[in-house]
Amino acid sequence: MTGLSLKGPISDDQLPLVEEGGILVEGEKIRAIGKFDALRDRWKTVGVRYLEGNHSCIPGLIDAHTHICFGGSRANDYALRNSGKTYLEIAETGGGIWDTVTQTRKTSAPQLVKGVVKRANRHLKNGVTTLEVKSGYGLSVEEELKMLYAIQQANGEVSVDLIPTCLAAHILPKDYNGSAAQYLFEISTQLLPKLKADGLSNRIDTFIEESAFSPEEIAPYLQKAKEMGFDICVHADQFSTGGSGVAAQFNAISADHLEASTEREIELLVQSNVIAIALPGASLGLGCNFAPARKILDAGGALAIASDHNPGSAPMGDLLTQAAVLGAFEKLTNAEVLAGITYRAAAALNLGDRGRLETGYLADFSVFHTHHYNEILYNQGNLKPCMVWKNGELVFDRHKH
Ligand code: NIG
Ligand code: FE
Repeated sequence: MTGLSLKGPISDDQLPLVEEGGILVEGEKIRAIGKFDALRDRWKTVGVRYLEGNHSCIPGLIDAHTHICFGGSRANDYALRNSGKTYLEIAETGGGIWDTVTQTRKTSAPQLVKGVVKRANRHLKNGVTTLEVKSGYGLSVEEELKMLYAIQQANGEVSVDLIPTCLAAHILPKDYNGSAAQYLFEISTQLLPKLKADGLSNRIDTFIEESAFSPEEIAPYLQKAKEMGFDICVHADQFSTGGSGVAAQFNAISADHLEASTEREIELLVQSNVIAIALPGASLGLGCNFAPARKILDAGGALAIASDHNPGSAPMGDLLTQAAVLGAFEKLTNAEVLAGITYRAAAALNLGDRGRLETGYLADFSVFHTHHYNEILYNQGNLKPCMVWKNGELVFDRHKH
């Protein structure tokens, strides 16, 4: 990924490939990268590992949008949707996000931690080394804190880096005795300072939708969060437009979903340097169209791709499969797909230390047993990494499992 741009189209022949390559790791980082023989001759290395046979190595994948901290299941919603009910109808009749809130509140903190650890380890085996995780199924100061502490604890128990995001502004909780403005004021005054004090998260997310918050309702909350120094991201234009405007107005780092975005919204995002995050797992889970990824790139935008792994709209949680499928439907080059799940996803998380195999970057990478990197996306997620390295250490070896 060395030298590739943050924005716009990338052709496959722009990818800098190293054949007969090697990576010299020092501590957590990449010290040098180049031909294996040249590296071995030049550096007095210890612990040389030579992989017999054909292998392809790519940067550790970065999943910049998930909701893997939750209790219960929404298999019932999935069945109802496939019987003809819409996501919003189901939400109005007792299913949807509120159902997961109810089930998550009933789940003990240790059980929540266990769930996050289990799901994060599954992502790791699929080559993901950095995973964003949102709260948003607690929806009270106390229950959101329970989730964020659980994510913090899980982060200490897994090799993957978990990047926590506070999504207390997911929907107005059904049991809240007051207006949206009052709820948002309460979390901005009682929860946000606590996130700073306890190092729980420096990212704030929200859901702008007819069934969630309107641009007008959310403005004072995002203003406050910005003043406090939080990075902002937005669930935008999933079913109806409006969220991308909010993302642009508040200089959000990313606008995620965008299935309903038209040329106008794309223009807004591109002009304001907001990174677009396509969530093909939500399109597959809901059976709807994909975000206009090709148009976003052609308009000069930055496009990341994430799994949105959550119990409602995106239960599959397989980033590589979903990114490959998005590539096939939206006509993205392999280079654009790989960029979307590596350094462009790192930028969406404001992480400048990962996502490329380059000197000085974190030594996060995965190795696939194949002669050509094109085979990875071609297999649409069915070719799994045989090894995953995180911070310079081999943390998953398929042959040992
Ligand atoms: O990204 N759109 C809103 N939030 C999640 C879905 C959460 C849920 O249905 O539980 C999403 O799709
Ligand atoms: Fe989401």
